[in-house]
Amino acid sequence: MDFAEVIRRRYSVRAYQRRAIEEDVLQRVLEAFVLAPTAANRQAFGLVVIPTAGREPELARIYGRDWFAAQAPLVVCACAIPDQGWVRRDGKSYADVDVAIAMDHLILAATNEGLGTCWIGAFDPAAAREVLGLPEGVEPIAFSPLGYPADMPKPKRRKRLEQLVHQERW
Ligand SMILES: Cc1cc2nc3c(=O)[nH]c(=O)nc-3n(C[C@H](O)[C@H](O)[C@H](O)COP(=O)(O)O)c2cc1C
Repeated sequence: MDFAEVIRRRYSVRAYQRRAIEEDVLQRVLEAFVLAPTAANRQAFGLVVIPTAGREPELARIYGRDWFAAQAPLVVCACAIPDQGWVRRDGKSYADVDVAIAMDHLILAATNEGLGTCWIGAFDPAAAREVLGLPEGVEPIAFSPLGYPADMPKPKRRKRLEQLVHQERW
């Protein structure tokens, strides 16, 4: 797919087919996560790949929508390891920024393969920690189902470019 088309085609998929993801397709999507840039190249993050089959009740504790826990063959969780990330002199940690970039790499690569994704931030972090067995210092930042879409995109509602892009000064 042409890159501009990938950007246009990505949308939050909230219904998935149960169809399995081919191994080579999955590898390309995971490689996009690994190739993302990070502040000072610290790569202070990790991705948990969770097959949903048989784990639906556990996943539903993390985020209770059926399309999250019980449709797509996989759910992924991008995690930050803040203690290993780059911190600016004024104390600002870039760990979450690094994770967001890597997750978006994964999401755009998935779109390019015809797969659907949906950023999930409104999950239960305590349930996520328990179900995924996250060690101390590893923080779940974002989830997404990963699977072939079973819905259609809606028209995008966005602010106008002029509202968001400032020329020279805010
Ligand atoms: C950081 C982040 C967190 C989000 N969390 C959720 C969520 O918990 N549940 C959900 O259904 N959508 C979630 N979304 C999806 C947004 O609602 C969606 O991206 C936005 O409405 C624009 O629609 P589009 O992705 O289809 O273009 C999240 C998106 C982002 C970027």
